[in-house]
Amino acid sequence: MKEISLTGIKPTGDLHIGNYFGAIRPALELAATYDARYFIADYHGLNTMKSPEELRTATRQVAAGWLAAGLDPEKVIFYRQSSIPEIFELSTMLAAFTAKGLMNRAHAYKDAVQKNRERGEDPDAGVNVGLFTYPVLMAADIIAFDSDVVPVGKDQVQHIEMAQDIAGSVNANYGGAILKVPRAVIQENVALVPGLDGRKMSKSYDNTVPLFAPEAALRKTIMRIATNSQAVDEPKDPETSQIFQLYQLFADKAEQEALAARYRSGGMGWGHAKEALFAVADRTLAPMRERYRAILEDIPALERILALGAEKARPLAAGTLARFRKAAGVDGPSS
Ligand code: ADP
Ligand code: TRP
Repeated sequence: MKEISLTGIKPTGDLHIGNYFGAIRPALELAATYDARYFIADYHGLNTMKSPEELRTATRQVAAGWLAAGLDPEKVIFYRQSSIPEIFELSTMLAAFTAKGLMNRAHAYKDAVQKNRERGEDPDAGVNVGLFTYPVLMAADIIAFDSDVVPVGKDQVQHIEMAQDIAGSVNANYGGAILKVPRAVIQENVALVPGLDGRKMSKSYDNTVPLFAPEAALRKTIMRIATNSQAVDEPKDPETSQIFQLYQLFADKAEQEALAARYRSGGMGWGHAKEALFAVADRTLAPMRERYRAILEDIPALERILALGAEKARPLAAGTLARFRKAAGVDGPSS
């Protein structure tokens, strides 16, 4: 039997190519090896998004983005977190096994407190309990599906360790393997995609290349990549150019070698380099952009895909919950 891999996707509408090469593509590759369950974490999104339109739109856009990028809902169980009420019941049970001190140490909460202190505000200003207990809900997401592995970036490793801790406390208390203890799979060889200004591409730096921008907007964005003042005929070092680093993500080996040689021999200006990048990027992105547009034009079909995923996912979570409730002596009717 294949191991179970699960990951949560934050509802953010504006996916960029850093998300694609750093998270989406590696997760889709893993889906070939594992029994994969991927979901849109809309209840996590609620902690920060209080506009219903924004949350609903972002949820649908990110779902459409993963489907357009190649997620096959026949092979991967793909659902909205909010469609599985068992997760939230489980989260309440897990909270009873979670030390408050553990939550105090969570990076996201500590960062928020630190920022407040720097601004001379109350340490908990603007922090809701949802943010504080985020790791408990995340543990429930994982544990509900008896997940063996959780593919995440380094920033999420602490959350997985907390899930291990919490599941371990439950098992220790009842003296048996009631809950599966998950492990993190850190995607080490994943490219860190540079942004327009050479820093890590990130929404928060406003330096992104959007994944689904129309062709003209994609070209315009690529033309905005920062460069140095080297003249056209000066030889250039491909290794230090973010234009070349981005080119490598889209081009095959032969194309990369050919372009690197042109950089080194001089005679190629930054404008040419950007044109070359645009050509290979658009080759990859055009069909994805087309699929994305088509998916978002048929919301009922998208909703059917997510509903089918939830139908497959719910009984799995219900099984875990029933096992835990029985062990705990929680005997009320279940949802
Ligand atoms: P952002 O930094 O734009 O807010 P997120 O934090 O929403 O991005 O990231 C979602 C996923 O995409 C994470 O798994 C993260 O590791 C990955 N990711 C984001 N930016 C990059 C990047 N520049 N290079 C590689 N992976 C990235
Ligand atoms: N916290 C994750 C992030 O910020 C998203 C997430 C929610 C998640 N629940 C999860 C990831 C469960 C893995 C497993 O990206």
